[in-house]
Amino acid sequence: MKLRVAVVYGGRSGEHEISVRSARAILAALDRDKYEVSEYFIDKEGKWSPGPILPEPAAQPDIDVVFPVLHGTFGEDGTVQGLLELAGLAYVGAGVLGSAVSMDKEMTKRVCAERMLPIVDFVSLPRSTANVAEACAALPFPVFVKPANLGSSVGISKAHNTRELEAAFALAAEFDRKVIVERGIVGREFECAVLGNEAPAASLPCEILPSREFYDYDDKYTLDLAGIQLPADLPPATTAELRRLAVACYRAVECEGMARVDFLLENSRGKLFINEINTIPGFTSISMYPKMWEHSGVPFPALLDRLIELALDRHRQRNATRFTR
Ligand SMILES: Nc1ncnc2c1ncn2[C@@H]1O[C@H](COP(=O)(O)OP(=O)(O)O)[C@@H](O)[C@H]1O
Ligand SMILES: [Mg+2]
Repeated sequence: MKLRVAVVYGGRSGEHEISVRSARAILAALDRDKYEVSEYFIDKEGKWSPGPILPEPAAQPDIDVVFPVLHGTFGEDGTVQGLLELAGLAYVGAGVLGSAVSMDKEMTKRVCAERMLPIVDFVSLPRSTANVAEACAALPFPVFVKPANLGSSVGISKAHNTRELEAAFALAAEFDRKVIVERGIVGREFECAVLGNEAPAASLPCEILPSREFYDYDDKYTLDLAGIQLPADLPPATTAELRRLAVACYRAVECEGMARVDFLLENSRGKLFINEINTIPGFTSISMYPKMWEHSGVPFPALLDRLIELALDRHRQRNATRFTR
């Protein structure tokens, strides 16, 4: 019998359209000789069609494994993962904790810092902060100002002075109750794909060459202008270090299944910094996560097979765990 895979996509986030594009690519690549595929589409208001997955064990006897292809809020942040845990279903990607920690840029930095992994200097501020300039006084300009919990560069700006900082803060504060301000790095940007549960592996990294002042939403998805160098042109020792850090970050946030870890390399010091980790990276036709694996010897359909295997593996382990005395 074929394995029954439910692809959940769309969703109530600013990345709804990207999710639809990612899901389209995944639906096209899932091997129909192996899988019987069903689709659950969540519209922008959060309505599911054909109907929601229910939070009760055994309520979905027709699903063997769920593939959440939801980027950002209400999907990549542990919320849908929580629903799937309640439903007792196997699902692809990070669990509740790994998803939530990875979605929150402050928590990601804190768990990385605890393991001495390199992150840029930052402050985390509640949106009610009265004197933003004073709270950021320790950071040299330019700074990057970000909502703590969003993705796709939404609500992010680069500020070169106090006036811009205040405007950037106000914008970011519209998107989150918590705002991150961090030192701007002058340098290069890299990404690395990680795959696995207990023994995660890192792909060959790629370099992102933004066409604009930074890698913003348009560059990522609309304009297709950003250049990509795959594999990244780096000295072997730097590549090795980047891959080591990608796996270390993945472990630090307790990720499972997959993630894309993003880096900044500072020109002046040649130092690598972990920028962020994405637990449901883009899977669109121009997305880097599947491309990096392809370059590392794992074609797209095989990558999907592996992700599903990892989901089932974790589910088996969960079922072998006692939750009561
Ligand atoms: N500290 C920084 N220094 C330099 N560039 C940055 C910094 N933080 C973010 N950027 C730029 O902004 C982009 C978006 O920021 P990022 O933290 O990756 O947010 P998102 O979760 O929206 O992708 C990055 O890809 C990079 O181009
Ligand atoms: Mg990013």
